[in-house]
Amino acid sequence: MVTMLVTVAWLLLPLLLLAITYRRRPTTSPRRRLPPGSSGLPFIGETLHLFLPSTDFDLIPFLKSRLRRYGPVFTTNLFGKQIAVSADSELNHFLLQRDQQLIETWHTDTSAGLFGDVDINLASVHKYVRFATLRSFGVQELRERRLPEMERRVHVALGDWSERASVEVKHATATMVLNYGAKLVFGYDPQQYSKEKLVDLYSSITKSLISIPLKIPGTTHYKCLKEKEKAVKLIRNEFRKRQQASFSSTKEPSKGDDFLDHAIRELNNDGEKKPYSLSLTEDFIVNFIFALNFVSHDTIANIMTLAVKLIEDHPLVLEELVAEHEAILKARESTSVGISWDEYKSMTFTLQVINETLRLGNLGPGILRRAVQDIHTNNGYTIPSGCGILIAISAMHLNPETYKDPLTFNPWRWSGVSPSDRMYKDLMPFGWGMKQCAGSEYARLFVATFLHVLVTKYTWKRIKGGNLRRNPLLIFDQGLHVKFMEKEITQQPPSN
Ligand code: HEM
Repeated sequence: MVTMLVTVAWLLLPLLLLAITYRRRPTTSPRRRLPPGSSGLPFIGETLHLFLPSTDFDLIPFLKSRLRRYGPVFTTNLFGKQIAVSADSELNHFLLQRDQQLIETWHTDTSAGLFGDVDINLASVHKYVRFATLRSFGVQELRERRLPEMERRVHVALGDWSERASVEVKHATATMVLNYGAKLVFGYDPQQYSKEKLVDLYSSITKSLISIPLKIPGTTHYKCLKEKEKAVKLIRNEFRKRQQASFSSTKEPSKGDDFLDHAIRELNNDGEKKPYSLSLTEDFIVNFIFALNFVSHDTIANIMTLAVKLIEDHPLVLEELVAEHEAILKARESTSVGISWDEYKSMTFTLQVINETLRLGNLGPGILRRAVQDIHTNNGYTIPSGCGILIAISAMHLNPETYKDPLTFNPWRWSGVSPSDRMYKDLMPFGWGMKQCAGSEYARLFVATFLHVLVTKYTWKRIKGGNLRRNPLLIFDQGLHVKFMEKEITQQPPSN
């Protein structure tokens, strides 16, 4: 009898698997039923709920209450637009795998006003954005050229902070990261621009990023646009200065190789063959540089700040980090060399700390898309063509079925986890698929370098602040004010 049951089970297994696969895979076959949800009040929909803050690592109340009420896929109305929200891992992977076929990038009117001139949905624009970003921030550049200067800047910054009574970490790290990134992008040197500090312009833009898009003087959005104009002007001046120099030069064209140098040479048609077919314009270059400066610094500064807070709150994590980095120093043949690429790759526990900080950090609720055709989900719903889609990465990161005690900061949960495990697959702080972040390795490397210098050379204690708020982007309410102190036995900064 038992043998017979086993035989039947074996025979049925392929059919069973087929049935499960068939049932679970989202399809594009025609059936129409909207996911459950509510469209809220006329015009504003449920937008006000989105801004209800949360004050810890938990999901914002907007997502938490609706996921509980409707399940992992629901509809809502934000900023007057119908939006389907998905916290369903399988559906999200399915959608992102078919980016540009089923869905396209989409912005709220606020962010479209800020970044709208760069339309990432055009294949030629997207190719250029990836190619040009990776040319300055990709693995090859990092490995061959960036690491020593990055480390030097971290040493200088921490040295400076340790001389002050207290430092607001978010602003300090944002300044360090932006000044370095903007140098790589358009040669920015803060000493030359004493009137308008780039970091201050970007910091006010960040504070008002998600706001009601009213272009009326006095509103947050209006202020945001004015600050953008100032930052763009600063970049445009540099562009014009270099463009003029390239026209008036009787000598060879400039051999400079920051992002802007490349862009100007391409604009002036340098004749080189490119993997994209985009005709650049001054406006496009200037707006793209504005956006690139933005995405390349605020994100990293938030993760660094959060890491400082979390590590201070978890002494065992600090202990293991110190052990890992001191072992790296001990194994070096000379004390005057800096971090090598191999050392970076060997920082196993540090990379676990970074993963865990990214998982809990959830800088925003997720990424926005729009359906370009009707999308039929595995549970019989249809997301209609034109509908906005919020791929709720934050909800995936805090799903207790994937991450045990999801609100606990536990870097050890990543030890031995392989890229094919669900925990890894659902960790998407940098997005996923063809539009996955082009600066992810630069971000990880910068945070790892920062932690290396921090834990080997300094100790720190909180003076005040450190409270998180999400409305719905992550912010540090009163900042995080810290006193950094140099350790007594120190390692000399590397001589470059
Ligand atoms: C902790 C740091 C960072 C986080 C959490 C982050 C997050 C993301 C996410 C979620 C996306 C995907 C957006 C989407 O699919 O709609 C993205 C795309 C992108 N990010 Fe980042 N990012 C970070 C740092 C950076 C840095 C440092 C740079 C530049 C140096 C950068 C440049 C880009 C670019 C160019 C894209 C568009 C890629 C494409 O469309 O192919 N990011 N980022």
